[in-house]
Amino acid sequence: MSEPSLEPKSTTLAEVMSLMRRNQVRSGDFTYTRPAPMTYEQQWLWDSCFHALIYAHFDPNQARQELLSLLHPPGFPDSRMIPHMIYWTGGGLELWGYDHVSFLTQPPMVADTALRLHRRDPNVPFLRRIYSRLQQHYEWLNDARDPDGDGLVSIIHPWESGWDASPRWDGALNLIRPTPHETKAARLQLAKELRENGTDAREICETDRFVIEPVDFNSIYAVNLSALADIAGILGRDQDAAIYKARAVKTAEAIRNRMWDPQTNRFCDLAGEGEKPIRVSTPAALFPLFNGIASDSQLEHCLRQFHAEFSEPFPVPTVSPREASYSPDQYWRGSVWLSVNWFIHQALLSRNLSSEARMLATKSRHLVDIGGFFEYYDSRTGDGLGAADQSWAGLVIEFGPSGNLVGGR
Ligand code: GLC
Repeated sequence: MSEPSLEPKSTTLAEVMSLMRRNQVRSGDFTYTRPAPMTYEQQWLWDSCFHALIYAHFDPNQARQELLSLLHPPGFPDSRMIPHMIYWTGGGLELWGYDHVSFLTQPPMVADTALRLHRRDPNVPFLRRIYSRLQQHYEWLNDARDPDGDGLVSIIHPWESGWDASPRWDGALNLIRPTPHETKAARLQLAKELRENGTDAREICETDRFVIEPVDFNSIYAVNLSALADIAGILGRDQDAAIYKARAVKTAEAIRNRMWDPQTNRFCDLAGEGEKPIRVSTPAALFPLFNGIASDSQLEHCLRQFHAEFSEPFPVPTVSPREASYSPDQYWRGSVWLSVNWFIHQALLSRNLSSEARMLATKSRHLVDIGGFFEYYDSRTGDGLGAADQSWAGLVIEFGPSGNLVGGR
């Protein structure tokens, strides 16, 4: 009998293609990709952006389809914002008060996704087709989610961050060492309150309910305003390009100046009207590594934090192992998520930090090679956790040696 091999087998492009095809859902003229069979059958905002980035490697037309279904959902309550969930066959009524969409959003990465797709497979008519819809969403963020006009946008529910159960939100939800059941109950309760009382960020600020300016969400916002400016430039809309470039610079400056916590030498989320720093150490603090956000000295601190807290044994744990709340296998409380790894990898590439980027890419690939296509992974053992056959595990091809032909800006 032969010994089992300890070498992980490499995940192949054919396996990623098959995963994505298995998860495709058709609805009328539209197709989208469900995040995972059974567990996540609806369409999700940031998942669909990741799916488009994956499809871009082997089927750019499908990548465009994924973005079209995301941008043109049925039954829209506010025609400007892109909702975080779309229920193509209905079913959202009880939770959201709308049958087909949620009233929340998710990390605003769609402009950058469209630009990356365009760089891989140029298609100006497609950019022209989606441009006004993209504009509406970023204008909505500016109008509705930056009530104090400081360039930083707020989220009004943990689901909007994508990091549902992170201890970053415990304080604002009045949770102390919560169980998974308690964090979930708090999220459902908050959704109910928003459904009943409305989602106006200004009012929420005044009444001191859950309102947070997250450092990762805002870094993504800055990168995406800049991507939107580039798209406007490609379409010859120079005035728009100048407006979005200026907004990108304003947000980057606000992150640099207002989200830096000299007490811990880290970037922090800001909570409530008083903008109090949330000092739980998580890799969200590394998102300002994107070129044009952190200053040189902040970058040094970020890199130190990356090496000391987030690189071993399986990066990137979603909570620092130094935190009391760190649990290597728990949902958003220390487990590894490829969605987060993708951003940090892109941020490192955008600064030409190639040895850190290479290390992170290799280890991210190993997670999928060893564990398979999972929603998230144990940061101590690398075991796959959560939903099986999760589509965004296909991001493994973005970490491949020949992947990532488009670096960050
Ligand atoms: C979970 C994740 C969220 C993701 C969704 C679909 O709710 O926390 O980030 O978008 O699943 O995969």
